[in-house]
Amino acid sequence: MTDIEKVAVVGGGLMGAGIAEVCARAGLDVLVAEVGTDALDRARARISGSLERAVAKAKLTAEEGADAETRLSYTADIGDCADRDLVIEAVAEDEAVKTDVFARLDKVVARPDAILASNTSSIPIMKLAMATGRAGQVVGIHFFNPVPVLPLVELVPSLLTSNETTERAADFATGTLGKTVVHARDRAGFVVNALLVPYLLSAIRMLESGFAAAEDIDAGMVHGCAHPMGPLRLADLIGLDTTRAIADSMYAEFKEPLYAPPPLLLRMVDAGLYGKKSGRGFYDYG
Ligand code: CAA
Repeated sequence: MTDIEKVAVVGGGLMGAGIAEVCARAGLDVLVAEVGTDALDRARARISGSLERAVAKAKLTAEEGADAETRLSYTADIGDCADRDLVIEAVAEDEAVKTDVFARLDKVVARPDAILASNTSSIPIMKLAMATGRAGQVVGIHFFNPVPVLPLVELVPSLLTSNETTERAADFATGTLGKTVVHARDRAGFVVNALLVPYLLSAIRMLESGFAAAEDIDAGMVHGCAHPMGPLRLADLIGLDTTRAIADSMYAEFKEPLYAPPPLLLRMVDAGLYGKKSGRGFYDYG
């Protein structure tokens, strides 16, 4: 266990809601910050729905589910993060949006030893650290979707992150949340997305070229390689907007064609076909 008791999660989307849920289930006091009341209502509904499902599946007792709810609070004012020991940013995968959040957190978070973490998949931690006056306390803590199910956390210090921050973040992820940590250097994509994203993009290129149907591509990897889901369904789960944003960051960093988002992915994002969360991607979720 660590000295971290009060956590804020900035952003209550797919990842932020999952992170807030696992923190509340681990006994922490969790504040969820979003940009307005509609976004906060959606975050609250996501977290409550997931806790209810966990209770219905007997992963939590009704009492544990209710206790987790009482440890969660919600705010539309990032200034309320002032008293937090740890803030985890989980807003959209957009460098300008994320650096703005870090600059604002730097102004409001009062504890001198507070950790400012990002759940980014692909944006260099150094860029976020340099938006603050406390680069030694900025670190990447990258979760995987669905957060309550997948045990992995990638821990990513920048060149300026202090050893103490990295150690406290690792203790938090393993000791408090019970996650498995892998350590990665501050390069776009870290370990998992450096391997996963070229695979997802290859599947999209395969579909785009007419080489095979979506169902056959996915069935190939599910039944031939025992993956829990095929690459196109997984891209739908991650979100095609997020998949594209990760590919853009990785392409910007390495200039390697294998990270370049294929035109089909770009057009689907243009069309608002973001995958499971929007109701349609490579598959329909109506
Ligand atoms: N929240 C909580 N629990 C969930 C859940 C959610 N959103 N979705 C599924 N589960 C649980 C279910 O309750 C179920 O639990 P039990 O077996 O104990 O009943 C279990 O997970 C399996 O779920 P289902 O039976 O409904 O469905 P499934 O067997 O098809 O599994 C899946 C669904 C867990 C999503 C599985 O297909 C899977 O692990 N897929 C791969 C996901 C993956 O690779 N994620 C990483 C994405 S990359 C990323 O996140 C990082 C990034 O930067 C892009």
